[in-house]
Amino acid sequence: MNIFDSHAHYDDEAFDPDREALIASLPERGVSEVLNVGASFEGSLRSVEFAQKYGFFYAAVGIHPEYAADAEEQYLPKLEALFANPKVLAVGEIGLDYHWAENPPREIQKRVFERQIELAQKLGRPILVHSRDAAADTLEILGKYRPAGVMHCFSGSVETLREVLALGMYISLGGAVTFKNAKKAKAVAAAVPADRLLLETDCPYMAPEPNRGRRCDSSMIRDTAAVIAALRGEEVETLVGRCRENTLRMLGL
Ligand code: NI
Repeated sequence: MNIFDSHAHYDDEAFDPDREALIASLPERGVSEVLNVGASFEGSLRSVEFAQKYGFFYAAVGIHPEYAADAEEQYLPKLEALFANPKVLAVGEIGLDYHWAENPPREIQKRVFERQIELAQKLGRPILVHSRDAAADTLEILGKYRPAGVMHCFSGSVETLREVLALGMYISLGGAVTFKNAKKAKAVAAAVPADRLLLETDCPYMAPEPNRGRRCDSSMIRDTAAVIAALRGEEVETLVGRCRENTLRMLGL
């Protein structure tokens, strides 16, 4: 199996006890590439460090909406400078998250999201979008800029899916699609055009069934892919291979 995990957070402290050994074991468990995604500036630096250290790792750098208020001064030129490394391929994860009351005010989230989209467009790189309970504002901003990129851990309806597809973006699905009550995600998995679907873990979070609730890693994509392939009436290997090709294309590899 040739799994490309299009969205992982191996810098997370959940991996502190055994990070080296776990990452070393991924290739023999079917993982051929990993895009490690920054959420804070610190996390972005760690992503670049991993891409330097491991041949099959690539990096995305960006400020997640949760950290939008603490984005340090000059965060845009600092992010831009990281693209001097040829393994830094995307701006992410960025977006809007209205789910938690303690998240930064919406105006701050929108401003930081828009500035980072502008940076990605200036650099000709795709974005990785996080959108939670913020579909209308996310679509409005994406419609304004029409950036290249992916809706990560897409959790919207089939109607929202059609709007995102019309913008030319990719859709990435993770472990949530395997959960018993995930009716919307299953409908989306069946409806995404073959050339627009990516696979991801968002690890250490969102482990698919039968490991729901445990720490996730990229090898578990095979369980997510098995559920999606069944919904689409495809072979798992075919689906995983095509999603890998889609990820390579999106990232310009
Ligand atoms: Ni993430």
